[in-house]
Amino acid sequence: MKQLENKKTLYSGVQPSGNITIGNYIGAIRQFTLLSDQYNCLFCVVDLHALTVRQIPAELRRNTLELFALYIAAGLDPQKNIIYCQSHVPEHAELTWILNCFTYMGELSRMTQFKDKSARNQDNLNAGLFTYPVLMASDILLYQTSLVPVGEDQRQHLEITRDIAERFNNIYGNVFVVPEAYIPKETSKILSLSDPLRKMSKSEPDGAVFLLDNADDIRRKIRRAVTDSDAEIRIDIENKPGVSNLLQIYSAFSGESTDEAIGRFEGQGYGQLKKAVSDAVIAGVEPIQKRYQELIADKGMLHQQMMNNAERARQIAARTLRKVYKKVGLYQG
Ligand code: TRP
Repeated sequence: MKQLENKKTLYSGVQPSGNITIGNYIGAIRQFTLLSDQYNCLFCVVDLHALTVRQIPAELRRNTLELFALYIAAGLDPQKNIIYCQSHVPEHAELTWILNCFTYMGELSRMTQFKDKSARNQDNLNAGLFTYPVLMASDILLYQTSLVPVGEDQRQHLEITRDIAERFNNIYGNVFVVPEAYIPKETSKILSLSDPLRKMSKSEPDGAVFLLDNADDIRRKIRRAVTDSDAEIRIDIENKPGVSNLLQIYSAFSGESTDEAIGRFEGQGYGQLKKAVSDAVIAGVEPIQKRYQELIADKGMLHQQMMNNAERARQIAARTLRKVYKKVGLYQG
């Protein structure tokens, strides 16, 4: 990443919690591959955030490396962008401490994700879950980020990041860029195959196609996708969410517009539609899977790239942290 170029910075983080769905790919990663000329892009595997729920250490380690490889396999370029692992840049944890001292208990208790997660994790209501948004704010603010692509569920966290940044800037001058949400250009949201009223999600594996699913699994999942009883193939999100979703998946992977697709499928049955969707998805994920297998087969090389990217991230992060330490009065010699 050429730091001296006057481009805005775009920052995104994903938890290393296993596989990525074709929904994540279409809605986020594939779009990111188009942004790297326009912005300085950082993509972070947020392993520290993952620790807010209990992890099996060997699994977390494996998931971290796999997500890193999958990002690259899906088209993000570790030379053009910075793709790195959160815990490799200690400045994240360090800035989090400082920002904890500029964040109020009251505002953290209002976070709906905290309320949801604490209801679900009664047996492990740890302080990390509570301060999760402060770590996220540190991720973003360390890199003087202008734009953060966020879905609905992370909007509140971006809001609190802005509040913390503005609060800090009001006291100490312009230390942080105050980030904004990046709204990607309209793409169809990929919905669950088994419940097409909800987003496709990895927590519901039967309704989700994963980037690393084999062809048989992809066919099986798509064959079982919920449709409806009238046999017409058209887009009608309200009355025919399942069929509309299949058309959108087809369009996203084939490159045909949904109108073209509707023309193509005119007079055909849902079985034929599902077969075409499966073919398109399989053709789309195949090169990603191939690249992924090559990458993961050479762990030494992958590790090298990871370390190299962490070093590049660290140079930027350290600059911001140094400034913050100075501003708040920590003795720096
Ligand atoms: N909290 C985000 C999520 O669960 C992940 C995340 C961590 C993130 N740090 C970030 C997203 C910084 C964007 C920017 O999806």
